[in-house]
Amino acid sequence: MSNQEEKKIRVAVIGCGSIANSAHIPNYVKNPAVEVKYFCDILPERAEEAVQKYGCGTAVKDYHDFLNDPELDAVSVCTHNDFHAPITIDFLRAGKDVLCEKPAARVLSEALEMQRVSHETGQLLSIGVVNRFGDAVNRVKDMIAAGKLGEVYHVFASFRAHRSIPGIGGDFTTKEVSGGGALIDWGVHYLDLILYCCGEPKPLTASGEAFCKLGKNIADYTYLSMWANRDAQAKGTYDVDDSVTGLVRTDGPSISFLGAWAQNIGKSEMFIDFMGDKGGVRLQYCQNFVYYTFEDGALLEVQPTYPTVDFYETEINSFVQSVKTRQPNQANIDNAVVTSKIMDGIYRSSQAHREVTID
Ligand SMILES: NC(=O)c1ccc[n+]([C@@H]2O[C@H](COP(=O)([O-])OP(=O)(O)OC[C@H]3O[C@@H](n4cnc5c(N)ncnc54)[C@H](O)[C@@H]3O)[C@@H](O)[C@H]2O)c1
Repeated sequence: MSNQEEKKIRVAVIGCGSIANSAHIPNYVKNPAVEVKYFCDILPERAEEAVQKYGCGTAVKDYHDFLNDPELDAVSVCTHNDFHAPITIDFLRAGKDVLCEKPAARVLSEALEMQRVSHETGQLLSIGVVNRFGDAVNRVKDMIAAGKLGEVYHVFASFRAHRSIPGIGGDFTTKEVSGGGALIDWGVHYLDLILYCCGEPKPLTASGEAFCKLGKNIADYTYLSMWANRDAQAKGTYDVDDSVTGLVRTDGPSISFLGAWAQNIGKSEMFIDFMGDKGGVRLQYCQNFVYYTFEDGALLEVQPTYPTVDFYETEINSFVQSVKTRQPNQANIDNAVVTSKIMDGIYRSSQAHREVTID
C-alpha cells in the first residue's frame, strides 16, 4: 500500500452539541481512515468533554485557530444554522472540504453563496441531508427509477407532531438564528428526500402558508416533554413557523405537505406517500415502507424487510470517501440548494398569500 493510500483524513468537528455527539464524532472515530484532530465549541467545556470522551484530538474555542492548519483535510459544521454559511465559507476558502449540517443555511442567499464558493474553490461541500443514506429511502428511489410505481404524479408528506417544538425560546425558535421553524428544521428533510427519490425534478412554483400560532405565547405553550434548551423557555424568542402547508409544482410530480412542530391534534404522523399510476408507496419517516400495486385482478400490499445500516454512519463514511476520491456524493450542495429554493418559495408565498415562481 502506498503512503498516499495510508494517509488518514484529518478532520475537525465544529460545534460539539447534540448532532455532533450523536452522529458525526462517533462515526468519524469508528472510521479507521479518519483522525479527529480538533473539537471546537464556543463553550470550551463541550470541546474538552469531547476530547475526554473520545480520547483523541485537541479542544479549541475559536475555529480561526486551526483554519489554516495545512494538515487538516475536512471539517463537520455542527453549529446552529446562523453559523453554517460563515464557517463553511471560511473553511472552503482555506482549502478544506466541508460537511455542513442541514439546513444548508438560514436563507437561500446564504446557501447560494456557499455553493458559489464551493465551485470557485473546487472544495467539496456536503450537506447533512442524512435521509439520502437511508436504506428504505434508497429502496424507494430504486423502485421509482425501475418503473414499479409507473408515473409518479404526486407526492404528499406529513411531518406533524402534537407537541414537539425543539427548545422553545432557544436557537431553533429564533428566526435570526434558525431562519425558520417546522419547514426549515423538519420540512427540509422531507422535501430533500422526495426530490432524491423522484430523480431530482426541477421546482417551478410554490404556494404555501406558514403559521406561527402555538408557540408564540411561550408561557402558555403546554407540553409533556421537550428536547433541548429547556432553560431558555422563560426568557427566549419565538418568531418562527410552528406549522406549514404547501404545494410545489415541478417538472415531475407535484408535491404537497402539511407539517407541524406543534398542533392541536394529538397524533404524530410522519410519512411520505408516493402516488404512481401503477403503484404507490407509503414511507414511514426514518422507518420502513409499504408498496401498493395490483396484478391479475388483485390488489397487492407488500411490506419488504431487508438489512439496515445506521444512516448517520453511512453518511459520514460516504463523506470521508468523497474527500478521498474528490467525488461529490448524493448530498452535495447543488442538490441542497434546490431544497433551499423550495423553502424560500414557500416562505415568500406565505408572505404574499399567492403562488410564486421558483427560478
Ligand atoms: N441531520 C439531522 O438529523 C440533525 C439533527 C439535529 C440537528 N441537526 C442540525 O445540527 C445543527 C446543530 O444542532 P444541535 O441540535 O446539535 O445543536 P446544539 O445546540 O446541541 O449544538 C450546537 C453547538 O454549536 C456550538 N456553537 C455555536 N456557535 C459556534 C461557533 N461559532 N463555533 C463553535 N461552536 C459553536 C454551541 O455552543 C453548541 O454546543 C443545526 O443546524 C440542526 O439543524 C441536524
